[in-house]
Amino acid sequence: ITVSIDAADAEKGTFPFYMLKEVSEQPAVMRRLISRYVDQAGAPQFDQAMLEALASADRLYIVAAGTSYHAGLVGQSLFEQLAKVPTEAYLASEFGYHQPLLSAKPMFIFLTQSGETADIRQVLVNVKQAGYPSLTLTNVITSTLAREADYAVELAAGPEIAVASTKAYTAQVAVEALLAKALGMVKQVPAAAAFDVAHQLSLAATGQQALIDQQEQLHLLATDMFGKTRNAFFIGRGTDYFVSLEAALKLKEISYVQAEGFAAGELKHGTIALIEQDTPVVAFITDPVTAARTRSNAEEVEARGAKVLRIASASLAEPGDQVIVDDLDPLLTPLLTIIPGQLLAYFTSLDRGYDVDRPRNLAKSVTVE
Ligand code: AGP
Repeated sequence: ITVSIDAADAEKGTFPFYMLKEVSEQPAVMRRLISRYVDQAGAPQFDQAMLEALASADRLYIVAAGTSYHAGLVGQSLFEQLAKVPTEAYLASEFGYHQPLLSAKPMFIFLTQSGETADIRQVLVNVKQAGYPSLTLTNVITSTLAREADYAVELAAGPEIAVASTKAYTAQVAVEALLAKALGMVKQVPAAAAFDVAHQLSLAATGQQALIDQQEQLHLLATDMFGKTRNAFFIGRGTDYFVSLEAALKLKEISYVQAEGFAAGELKHGTIALIEQDTPVVAFITDPVTAARTRSNAEEVEARGAKVLRIASASLAEPGDQVIVDDLDPLLTPLLTIIPGQLLAYFTSLDRGYDVDRPRNLAKSVTVE
């Protein structure tokens, strides 16, 4: 197999690390996905047979690992809200040992940047043996998982070289949104008709660029928050919780800070005991339904000495919030909130003098179970 990679795409150029280059490419990836998958009338276009297979499923199972699993959690809400099909995201490494009781007509969606992750492939092998339909969303359309699934859709993020996945995550969320909208249209779901996915992705591109342009301020915040710490917490509810998991993983894998993404409402059930003077806590506040409660959770940890950084949507922002992101449909806010998450991790790793692109003990693609 020959994989053609645009040489310019794979070059670092003036960027000190591939990770910063790949973070900076995210607005362009959003725009590329609109031009690749959305027609003149604003309707996402995908293979008809694949959409029919998705439409005849009574439940979708999204199977993934690491960052891709975190994108799958966001996808769960997108498919449920826009296409009204029950959807569950699973860790591939657990699925094999704790296979859920499947529905009568399941369809499997494998979410993978590399298309080579062994844990995911193992599930695909079993799914094929059982005769269930499968779809791989991947950045490498020539990969094993793309070839072996019944259908494949390309993430079109361009080569991702840094071990820490960034632009593939936002591409996965965007492609899930496009697919969920397309499926919702097939199923005539009113919420899908009302969801202007191309407009949302275009707003996301603009909002991402505004955050990337604030990287100097984010560097100062990273130094202040994580300069000396050995541990950190990221909290939120709903979609903000899913992005908390991903922001914590970014900080862990490249700066070796023990970080935990946590459902804000669960703090009081035990974890708040870990909060002491100057423990860094990042709170994501982007959903009008959950904003007040997450704010009160942030105040609870602040009252116990935590150093809190609030990342809020513009229309929900309050004085003292340190990072403001543009307003976006609450289903898609991870496309914006993960940018400060990625950059905080990047600058923490940089400040500590680590090789940002090649963190210890990790490989770009995990081909062993
Ligand atoms: C992300 O920053 C990690 N390097 C890792 O969690 C990765 O997302 C995971 O190994 C899954 O890889 P895949 O998307 O290529 O399947």
